[in-house]
Amino acid sequence: MLDMTHFPKATKYWHQGKIHDWSEIIVHPMAHGLHYGTIVFEGIRAYPTAKGPAIFRLPEHNERFFYSAGVARMVPPYDAAQVTAAIKQTVRENKLDSCYIRPLFYYAYGNMGLVPKACPVELLVAAWEWKAYLGEKADAGTSVYILPQRRIHRSQVDMKAKLGGMYVLSTIGGMEARAEGCDEAVFLNLEGRVAEGPGQNIFVVKNGIVKTNDRSESILEGITRTSILEAAADMGMKTAVGPIAKEEFLGADEAFFTGTAVEVIPITKITDASDPKAGKKVSPVSMGKTGPLTAALRARFFEIVTGKVPRFEKWLTYVND
Ligand SMILES: Cc1ncc(COP(=O)(O)O)c(C=O)c1O
Repeated sequence: MLDMTHFPKATKYWHQGKIHDWSEIIVHPMAHGLHYGTIVFEGIRAYPTAKGPAIFRLPEHNERFFYSAGVARMVPPYDAAQVTAAIKQTVRENKLDSCYIRPLFYYAYGNMGLVPKACPVELLVAAWEWKAYLGEKADAGTSVYILPQRRIHRSQVDMKAKLGGMYVLSTIGGMEARAEGCDEAVFLNLEGRVAEGPGQNIFVVKNGIVKTNDRSESILEGITRTSILEAAADMGMKTAVGPIAKEEFLGADEAFFTGTAVEVIPITKITDASDPKAGKKVSPVSMGKTGPLTAALRARFFEIVTGKVPRFEKWLTYVND
C-alpha cells in the first residue's frame, strides 16, 4: 500500500485516456521527464459550490498549460477540450468537491540524452485534497526568508512557462527557508528588488494601496494574482502594479502571498538574508498579524471561488455540467 498521508482522498488518476487506481505505478523509470525535468505542469483548484464542485479559472490554466508545452517544444497528444474533459473526469472519479488538480505533460520513454528525439509526450492528471499549502498556522501568518540567491532572470527563460526543471531552484530555496526556521522563501530578482515566492506572487499594501509587481520583475504572473487585482478593484480598493523595492516590502503596512496552492495568505514576518555580508535581519509586518485589507481580500477570494459572488461566477467551471 502506498503511503497516502500527503494525498488525502485520492483514489484514482488519469493517464493517457485511462483511469488508474492510485496505487498503480505505470511510468517507465527511463522516462525522459524523470531524468531531465522535461515536464510542464499546472496547479489548479476546485472548490465546493451550491452547484457542486467548480474549478477556478480552468480556461486560463489550460491556456498556460499549452503555452508551457509550446515553450518545451512539446507536441501535446491532446487538445484543450480533451484536457478539460480529463480534469473533470479525474475530479469526478475521485468524488472530490474540494481539491488540488495536477495536469502534467511529460516527455515519456524513448531515448536518453538531453534532446527527447524519440520520446512521446504523455498526459497525466491527478487530484487530491490539499488544504493549507503551508499549514494552518501559516494561513494565519507566514514567516518568509529572503534568500541570498536571486530569482532566475526573465532574459534566461520564459517565466510564463511552468517548466518542471526550473522548479528545482524553487525547491532548493524553499528547503533553505525551512532549514532557517521560516515557513517559505522569497526571491529577489537580479536587480535586487522583490520577485516572488518559489510558487507564489507577492503583494504589499501601503497607505491603502494594494500593489504587486509584474513580468518585468522576473516573475510568473499568476492567475490568482490577476484575480486578486481585479477583485480588489471591484471592492473599491486602490491597486497598483510596479516594481517592489526590498525596502518597500520590509516597510509595508501589510504583505501577502497569492497562488493556487497557498490561495491568499498573510506575510507577517520577514527574515532578510539577501546580503550575506550584512547578516540576517528580522522584521515583523503588520505587527505580526493579518492586516485588514489582506483579511478582506482573503475572505473575498473564498466567496468568489465557492460561487457566492455572481459577477465572478464567470471564473468557475462546474465539474458536473
Ligand atoms: C513561480 C510561481 N509564481 C507564482 C505562482 C502563482 O501562480 P497562480 O496564481 O497561477 O497559481 C506560481 C504557481 O503557479 C508559481 O509557480
